Amino acid sequence: MRFLITAGGTREYIDPVRFISNASSGRMGYALAAAALRAGHKVTLITAPTALKPPVGARLVAVESAREMFAAVKEHFPRCDCLVMAAAVSDFTPARPSKTKIKKGQGGPRPTLQLKPTPDILRWAGKHRRVRTAHHRAQLVVGFALEDRNLRAHAERKMRHKRLDMIVANAPAAINAEASTVHIKTPNSEWFELPPARKHTTARRIIRLAEEL
Ligand code: C5P
Repeated sequence: MRFLITAGGTREYIDPVRFISNASSGRMGYALAAAALRAGHKVTLITAPTALKPPVGARLVAVESAREMFAAVKEHFPRCDCLVMAAAVSDFTPARPSKTKIKKGQGGPRPTLQLKPTPDILRWAGKHRRVRTAHHRAQLVVGFALEDRNLRAHAERKMRHKRLDMIVANAPAAINAEASTVHIKTPNSEWFELPPARKHTTARRIIRLAEEL
């Protein structure tokens, strides 16, 4: 299969040197890329900045912002069999980033930051994916959900809203961690929980589930 995997937390620039982002390490996405490669698949990894070494054999596309990640996904999505959006895409971005470095100023009004929503990349993919035809197999779209309350209910709503083939839900403790406990649902199965495990182990399970689908 040809996997398209996104990883890392996007950076949304306020001015040329400052940005807002999140604590994502990129580990889950990189582990998924490594697991898919080890299983013999082709992998394109669209990555926001991380401190990780890219898995050998993956085609790498480096991006920073949600907007750049969206452009890269749009470009590579048509040629993949399965998109896994493991990236922590910023939900908001500065509405009017400054072209020059914002000065500290001297006693003037405190600067305020206005944000606007970023495009929902996963929702776009769920809407534009290929269905099965005589010549093509269907494209799979897999999403993640990080929820601090009502994990399964919120994630399930996301799965329907974004028309996903699989959702992997976890708690905030998973962010920037070596290991995680994940809950998984597909439209035709009940929720199940994978035991707490290193992200590499969880990644292997997720890739195997995608192969089965
Ligand atoms: O809606 P929420 O941000 O909780 O959904 C999380 C899932 O959606 C993740 O798979 C994430 O990669 C993806 N996402 C996206 N574009 C956004 C925000 C999240 O593709 N702007």
